[in-house]
Amino acid sequence: MKQLLTTVAFFILINVITGHAVHDDKNIGKQEPNTTKQLNDGNHIPIFGLGTFGWGDIPKIRQAINWAVESGYRHIDTAALYDNEAEVGQGISDVVRKGLVKREDLYVTTKLWNNKHARDQVVPALRESLAKLNLSYVDLYLIHTPLSSNEDRSPANIDYLETWQGMEEAKELGLAKSIGVSNFYTEQIDRIRAHSTIVPAVNQIEVHPSNTNETLVKDCFERNITVVAPFGFFVPRGKRPIKDDTTIKNIAQKYGKSVNQVLLRYSLDRDLIPIPKSTNENRIKENINVFDFHLTPEEVSIISSLNTNSSIFD
Ligand SMILES: NC(=O)c1ccc[n+]([C@@H]2O[C@H](COP(=O)([O-])OP(=O)(O)OC[C@H]3O[C@@H](n4cnc5c(N)ncnc54)[C@H](OP(=O)(O)O)[C@@H]3O)[C@@H](O)[C@H]2O)c1
Repeated sequence: MKQLLTTVAFFILINVITGHAVHDDKNIGKQEPNTTKQLNDGNHIPIFGLGTFGWGDIPKIRQAINWAVESGYRHIDTAALYDNEAEVGQGISDVVRKGLVKREDLYVTTKLWNNKHARDQVVPALRESLAKLNLSYVDLYLIHTPLSSNEDRSPANIDYLETWQGMEEAKELGLAKSIGVSNFYTEQIDRIRAHSTIVPAVNQIEVHPSNTNETLVKDCFERNITVVAPFGFFVPRGKRPIKDDTTIKNIAQKYGKSVNQVLLRYSLDRDLIPIPKSTNENRIKENINVFDFHLTPEEVSIISSLNTNSSIFD
């Protein structure tokens, strides 16, 4: 018993030192899509989610949410920018009405867009998102980017420290259970840490084999900030032929999985939270079917070695 307690204490100590979020005790050893990770504010986030961005796909989102929840997804990522919060909300109402889940079983994230960065704009912007989503709170509210803009999209020059004060108000009002940032660099996160009361719980950033972002991920972990790593897996963006890489194809063959499933597992096995977007029923199911295998640390390293620091925004 004493040895067991020592082992558990050692595990927690290592996680605290490395900044890794501690997995829920009840889930240790049996990772599932709705396995949660504890955030630095004590709340819990499911380690896998559904992305929803795609202006051309807005009419398909309601059905996609239904398929996703039926397939086991419990975490949904949207944003004011995506213009689909109403459809996301309809999908959520459907699955709750059908009795598939209760609202509190779902983890819903939305994001503040750049044109609402003034402190007194933040809570009203969130209330607007909540009205569209038909929800009384979101689980996570993120500043979508550190950049501010005017309604005409010209730069607005509002300091994100001011925006963060509005985010803290949103949390205090209970409109967002957790607050965080997206597309923030370490220096920007550290300015928030130095000048604010609440540390961001999450940084949502670009991570994929062409842009492994190891330093920023490590910096976030050292600050006990969870990394949601959504974009760039599947979207064919310009010069990145990563899906055709023989190394990844061989790993996929070894596990009897698709390349896309290996790329999602790569994210999970780096302790990142993937949120692949699909509105296609088969692909929604394929993407969540990644909890029956793990990559070895060597395979994670091999995939990371493909890094070319190529951002999708290059
Ligand atoms: N914070 C930010 O700044 C930011 C930026 C970008 C994205 N995000 C979030 O992250 C989510 C995902 O990012 P992403 O836009 O880069 O998209 P993604 O999830 O990397 O890729 C989505 C694209 O891949 C297709 N796809 C999905 N699963 C597939 C599979 N198994 N096989 C083949 N194709 C598949 C989808 O088409 P179908 O729908 O037809 O399947 C869609 O065209 C977004 O939806 C959004 O929620 C956040």
